Amino acid sequence: MVLPDREDAKTLAIAGTAYEWLATMGINRHDTVVAVGGGSVTDLAGFVAATYLRGIEAVHVPTTLLGAVDAAIGGKTGVNLGGKNLVGAFHHPTRVVIDLDLLDRLPAELKREGMAEALKAGLIADPALFDHLAEAGLDADLEFVVPRAVKVKANVVGEDFRESGIREILNYGHTIGHAVEIAAGLSHGHAIAIGMVAAGRIAKETLGFEESDKQDGAIARLGLPVHAAGLARGGVLSILAQDKKRDRGGMRMVLLRSIGDPVVLPVDGRSIDQGLEAIGVV
Ligand SMILES: NC(=O)c1ccc[n+]([C@@H]2O[C@H](COP(=O)([O-])OP(=O)(O)OC[C@H]3O[C@@H](n4cnc5c(N)ncnc54)[C@H](O)[C@@H]3O)[C@@H](O)[C@H]2O)c1
Ligand SMILES: [Zn+2]
Repeated sequence: MVLPDREDAKTLAIAGTAYEWLATMGINRHDTVVAVGGGSVTDLAGFVAATYLRGIEAVHVPTTLLGAVDAAIGGKTGVNLGGKNLVGAFHHPTRVVIDLDLLDRLPAELKREGMAEALKAGLIADPALFDHLAEAGLDADLEFVVPRAVKVKANVVGEDFRESGIREILNYGHTIGHAVEIAAGLSHGHAIAIGMVAAGRIAKETLGFEESDKQDGAIARLGLPVHAAGLARGGVLSILAQDKKRDRGGMRMVLLRSIGDPVVLPVDGRSIDQGLEAIGVV
């Protein structure tokens, strides 16, 4: 079954069409759904596999770098409902098959999206991965990068499958990044690159994270943005306030004491201002 492109795949209507299709083919409990595509495809197919006949096996074949190092790993599946990813299930694929040659030939823009998440993995848990990306940029060796980035996510998720504590560290750069993504209509990878710059500055001010400049250099080396200049501060703050409300109260952020040493801390308005200033949102 061919799915619509991008987020158009992640709807209850498409999930319904997929269930009908599986039923027509007489798929049973011992069959497997194989998802070949980007994160939107593995999210949808994973959700269908999680729920059809109360759960059949799923195999993911991610065809984007972001899918390989992030979306296909960790067992979160789902579809969108109004906001993003509101309906879903935890359902680990039995196998994830990654073709590095295919990923190496991706258009640069698509590669960059995944590199932002791979860099994040390095920053929170793998200094050697960070160093390699900082040096090689988009020419990074995927045989080195992909297994290491996958390992970071798999290790974190393995310790905290249903997301209460340590899994939070995967959200490095995602608090302000998410707000910038919505406010500026940026792609996810670009937005979290900017979010990491903001978080890096906050960490520098509050925890003495001295490698923040090195981090920003690596982001720029990958061709990812380090500024969101021109963006209205009020718009970003109101999205942050909505996120905060959803999290019931105080704003928490993932910060770094050093590369590979993350910590989740409450942040105040002054820190947010410092972060926004670092990305040119004043
Ligand atoms: N489940 C999770 O834990 C998790 C984590 C991160 C992201 N996600 C989800 O993943 C989705 C984003 O994934 P994505 O970045 O892979 O985007 P995507 O699946 O929307 O694909 C992006 C674009 O790349 C195209 N594409 C896919 N493979 C290609 C290839 N080999 N060559 C050329 N073009 C190709 C697609 O057709 C699409 O136009 C979002 O829906 C996001 O919510 C899920
Ligand atoms: Zn992300």
